[in-house]
Amino acid sequence: MSKDFSEMEDSNCSSNPSIHDIMALPDPQGRREWLQGAGLMGLLALLHPLAGCSTTAQTSPRATLGFKGIPPGMGDALVVPQGYSAQVIAAWGEPVGIAGNMPAFRMDGSNSAEEQAAQMGMHHDGMEFFALNGSSTHGLIALNHEYTDDGLLHPDGFMPMTASKVRKSQNAHGLSVFEVKFNGAQWEMVRPSTYARRVTMQTPFEVTGPAAGHPMLRTAADPQGRTVLGTLNNCASSQTPWGTYLSGEENWMFYFGGGKSISPHHQRWGMREKGLYNWESSDPRFDASRHPNEPNRFGWVVELDPNDPTSTPVKRTALGRAAHEGAWVALTRDQRAVVYSGEDARFEYIYKFVSTGRMQPGGAKANRHLLDEGTLFVARFDASGKGEWLPLVHGQGPLTARNGFADQGEVLIKARQASDLLGATKMDRPEWLTIDKSSRWVYCTLTNNSQRGEPGKPGVDAANPRANNTMGQIIRWLEDGDFDGNTFVWNHLLLAGDPANTRQEARGNIQGDMLGCPDGLGFAPNGLLWIQTDAHATQMYKGEFERIGNNQMLACDTQTGEVRRFLTGPTNCEITGLTFTPDGRSLFINVQHPGETPTDRSDPQKPNQFSNWPDYQTGGRPRSATVVIRKADGGVIGS
Ligand code: FEO
Ligand code: CA
Ligand code: CA
Repeated sequence: MSKDFSEMEDSNCSSNPSIHDIMALPDPQGRREWLQGAGLMGLLALLHPLAGCSTTAQTSPRATLGFKGIPPGMGDALVVPQGYSAQVIAAWGEPVGIAGNMPAFRMDGSNSAEEQAAQMGMHHDGMEFFALNGSSTHGLIALNHEYTDDGLLHPDGFMPMTASKVRKSQNAHGLSVFEVKFNGAQWEMVRPSTYARRVTMQTPFEVTGPAAGHPMLRTAADPQGRTVLGTLNNCASSQTPWGTYLSGEENWMFYFGGGKSISPHHQRWGMREKGLYNWESSDPRFDASRHPNEPNRFGWVVELDPNDPTSTPVKRTALGRAAHEGAWVALTRDQRAVVYSGEDARFEYIYKFVSTGRMQPGGAKANRHLLDEGTLFVARFDASGKGEWLPLVHGQGPLTARNGFADQGEVLIKARQASDLLGATKMDRPEWLTIDKSSRWVYCTLTNNSQRGEPGKPGVDAANPRANNTMGQIIRWLEDGDFDGNTFVWNHLLLAGDPANTRQEARGNIQGDMLGCPDGLGFAPNGLLWIQTDAHATQMYKGEFERIGNNQMLACDTQTGEVRRFLTGPTNCEITGLTFTPDGRSLFINVQHPGETPTDRSDPQKPNQFSNWPDYQTGGRPRSATVVIRKADGGVIGS
């Protein structure tokens, strides 16, 4: 998601120790001055024995970077290297392909709420290619639609908000599944398709795991606390080894109006008096003053089986409630599922869940309960370059009734509060994670944290080493033993930035092409690591970001540490969604919110004032869209 909404979420006032406490270094001001000098890299080397030694993260040979890098992007266009092509498919408003229900998109935003429910939603984010019968030329795409720009969604924008506009916004959220096929020259959506599906705010989700049915999840409309309509503000995604789609509910708190008196629990989750979307004006369940348990039914990792269009999607409470960016699965050597996730908010946490059971052969149906029983942990990154996973188990340590946790369900619903008490490390906005199946290192983007080191806010620590961290970093760790290890070693793959910046802490240490605000992250089948960026419209093209240009996608050879720019997006977009066909010859990405405005809401009178991508129609509207990239010679992308 764009920076604004996540940056609004800074509700962690707990007093977990920072590196100041751990290392007894000089006072924060003196330390900041020292960090701004030549001592920063020296400190990092001191703190992380593995820092700068990227070869330690490798155990087997990989593909190397085989494309000619491109310059930073400055225009309203999507650019890929020479020898590559980029094709737009599945823009906002295109019918997903439900038989008998394929309303054409109308560029003026006049499609009805009901039509929107059969069309691609807005603001595409996490996306996965599910091969049909192992094919690299025929499959399903499952993706989510993170949020809406109501200035583009309706002919007359956000004001006045009406019940039908609320319904249309709700129907432009959620998930989409559509079928794609490569016809020998290009990819095309298969429409109609028996797989085509939209999941909207009206779609029932089953709630499973220890918090299912918990009193804090019960509402007047759902007294059992086991069925929730819809999923909200989904961000990143992953594909499980058993063939399902996982996505996180990220900034769900901004959809609720909390009223004038907000409980400490909801305050800790950043709820405000009014919702950003004004849904509460016509849909009372988003009025948290009337329905205080409704927000507790969001913030979960959701799982969808895209191969079964009749399946009920699930909210997995065992994985904890958070401002989840997404969730990523590794398997232990004995086939237990380990799910890594973070929450993209300043000073929040990184989690992992270890399942009790083992993955079984038989795909989604055989593993439908795998993520419902196990142990949730939160990460503490120590200055020694080691770290520890702290269990969120009711009755252990401070997680008792006396401290506000009646049972395990409440620990999971209040995972943030539990992590505060456990002394977990407050991170610089964890975004995507990815797992290197070869070396078994786990990588996580920490996109930025402009409040790090501000008076009254947590100071720098070893894992989050820069004050006023405008640029972000990529952290990685290797578990001791197997993925279920209780301890790990860690270091940074890179600190993002532009080496020409005046301020030392905005320069970074990238070997190769500069970038800011890493967000999307994933390994290709050939072992190259792909990085996508999401600097916000308020940051770009000036100051420390002046030379970095449009948001972009880069490839990293983790053996050498080199980063090379592969793609630049149109003006004010975010590049996200990252999925390859099994042969690595087609790469699908998403361009989200081209033409994003500083307020995240377009002016309906000037809808294309910043971008008119991808249609470039006179009077047109910029549209989020899926893009598929191929090499002209049909070769493997990037190598
Ligand atoms: Fe939706 Fe954290 O990006
Ligand atoms: Ca993101
Ligand atoms: Ca982001």
